[in-house]
Amino acid sequence: MAKKIDGKAFAVSLRERVGKAVAQLQQDHGLVPGLAVVLVGEDPASQVYVRNKGKQTLEAGMRSFEHKLSDATSETELLVLIDQLNADPDVHGILVQLPLPDQIDSHAVINAINPDKDVDGFHLINVGRLSTGAPGLVPCTPLGCLTLLKDELGDLSGKNAVVVGRSNIVGKPMASLLLAESCTVTIAHSRTKDLADVCRGADILVAAVGRPEMIPGEWVKPGATVIDVGINRVEGAEGKTRLVGDVDYASVEAVAGAVTPVPGGVGPMTIACLLRNTVQAACAANGISFDLD
Ligand code: GUN
Repeated sequence: MAKKIDGKAFAVSLRERVGKAVAQLQQDHGLVPGLAVVLVGEDPASQVYVRNKGKQTLEAGMRSFEHKLSDATSETELLVLIDQLNADPDVHGILVQLPLPDQIDSHAVINAINPDKDVDGFHLINVGRLSTGAPGLVPCTPLGCLTLLKDELGDLSGKNAVVVGRSNIVGKPMASLLLAESCTVTIAHSRTKDLADVCRGADILVAAVGRPEMIPGEWVKPGATVIDVGINRVEGAEGKTRLVGDVDYASVEAVAGAVTPVPGGVGPMTIACLLRNTVQAACAANGISFDLD
């Protein structure tokens, strides 16, 4: 039976370390890291995420600036707000919650953020930094996955890693991070031939496709480490809904060496890494070296 990787507990300890770093920054430098979160529209899932981000930012001792705009906001109005946040010295991190309404080009908005405040790591400059190995801000979900993998396995060098999913938010940056750890990386996706065989070659299998329980235990190499990024709401018993990942937990658990559950695996790590990135950005903006450990 696979070990269940407790992302929830790890995220609690990471947030505690972030909180200690924040207290130290205030004591030594009078610096309070600040995170601005921008929500356009009223998507219920986005509202929950934004509320949780604000709450956890304050709990870590940082400043939280929330900007809630109507779903009729124009791209120009949003760009004006981004400019103000770019110019505000109390704002060290800017996150624009995605998805944005159709009238707004999300690429234009993301690339208008000062790359050194881009705590999502989505700006082209940060994508370039990650893929060339330069220091920068790394997307929070893949960073959380990598943190759990290193905690579980130590050195990842030489391992076969298969990332299922090629999104800009998870799949592609995850592959870059694993390559930087000297893994042999395969990016698989919906058009991949013989996906089962490709997955069976993985020492590290990262599932980020957004398809409920798509990956069964038969696709998993015995002893592999499986990271499930999926959060899918499906019909459960008695008309209730429940959350499942992209892997079929019951069958994967019987084969894998270790696996993240859904919920309680990767999910809680994302906000913890966002807080970490905000402290990193605040330190960089003030010429202070950043070391969380
Ligand atoms: N929506 C879903 N995931 C994310 C994320 O990581 N960052 C932002 N900005 N929006 C999201």
